[in-house]
Amino acid sequence: MNWNDTIISITLPIDVVKYIFLLGIGLSIPIVYRVLDFLWLYFLRPSSVKRYLHGNASYAVVTGATDGIGKATAAELLTRGFNVILHGRNEAKMQRVVDELRAAVRGQEKAEKADIRYFIADAAKSGHDFAKMVAPFKGLHITVVIHNVGGSDLLPQRIDQHTEEYLTSVVNKNAFFSLFLTRALLPQLRRAAHSGPVQVLFVGSLAGDIAPPRVPLYAASKGFLQALTRGLDNDEEFFARPTGVHFTYLVVGAVHSDNHDVPMSPSLTVPTSARFARAVVEAVGCGRRRIAPYYVHAVQSYFVELVGERITDNMSAQEMGGLIKQAVKARGEK
Ligand SMILES: NC(=O)c1ccc[n+]([C@@H]2O[C@H](COP(=O)([O-])OP(=O)(O)OC[C@H]3O[C@@H](n4cnc5c(N)ncnc54)[C@H](OP(=O)(O)O)[C@@H]3O)[C@@H](O)[C@H]2O)c1
Repeated sequence: MNWNDTIISITLPIDVVKYIFLLGIGLSIPIVYRVLDFLWLYFLRPSSVKRYLHGNASYAVVTGATDGIGKATAAELLTRGFNVILHGRNEAKMQRVVDELRAAVRGQEKAEKADIRYFIADAAKSGHDFAKMVAPFKGLHITVVIHNVGGSDLLPQRIDQHTEEYLTSVVNKNAFFSLFLTRALLPQLRRAAHSGPVQVLFVGSLAGDIAPPRVPLYAASKGFLQALTRGLDNDEEFFARPTGVHFTYLVVGAVHSDNHDVPMSPSLTVPTSARFARAVVEAVGCGRRRIAPYYVHAVQSYFVELVGERITDNMSAQEMGGLIKQAVKARGEK
């Protein structure tokens, strides 16, 4: 074998190398796109929430606003110049929260003058008259709705060990309350959309993607909200003339709240409710139907997708086991 033979024998594989190289470039385009999109979405995109301050006085509705993410989101919206309509289930607690919110924005000229209203309804119950519920707010210019109410009890029972009544209350709280409230508000939202953008956001959960054991109905209700988001957005955007009302589903990982049976300590992966609320408000007008408002949850969601079901299911089962044990102990149960 001389030099010429060697050159001939490596020219053939060079074509193969070229194709592998081109294939590599082709396959990496979606990954590069995803990384650039991530950087744009969380670190470079200009804030768009101000565009939702239109009309004479813009209102934002926040459900489940007496604690955790909802309360922090109400505070954040006030500082951004919105008037707020809050929802809770306990009037005495709501009045304390309204006082707290007013104290928190003291000294902020616009927020100090903001109108804070509220309504009380147990979201877990069936049979509400939603039209009557929103009647006091009929004349208001609502441009943002944050369906935040929801949550799951950490219980050791499987679904056949719960009553039908309990299971219905889980779905009411996590899905139907938001659906029927949206239905009651839609004509008013469409009117507000004549003067600028209007956005309805559903607070979802990573559990909607993972469906951990012992909370299948909670996960299913969040999955319902995710499909509802796309369906409603299509309804308002494509079937007839666009109405200008848009819908977004928020993917949420762990967030600290003092209201929980087992509050997780704040950390990079578990933001405080206040930190998370800033991210929620920044998601308003993001132009996506599904977004994890907090960037670390977006990375977690990506890895959940990457590692596949078996690993995720095993890990979430272990985590749920630990959380349920702690919750049972915190409630003083056996
Ligand atoms: N925090 C997390 O780790 C996490 C993770 C994923 C998704 N999420 C989602 O984020 C949302 C808020 O969670 P959070 O952690 O902020 O909860 P939270 O701190 O427990 O606060 C929940 C809020 O909803 C209200 N609420 C609960 N049940 C209600 C009912 N039956 N009727 C009316 N109001 C009711 C609570 O009222 P009271 O003040 O009277 O209790 C409170 O204002 C939920 O949709 C949850 O699924 C949270």
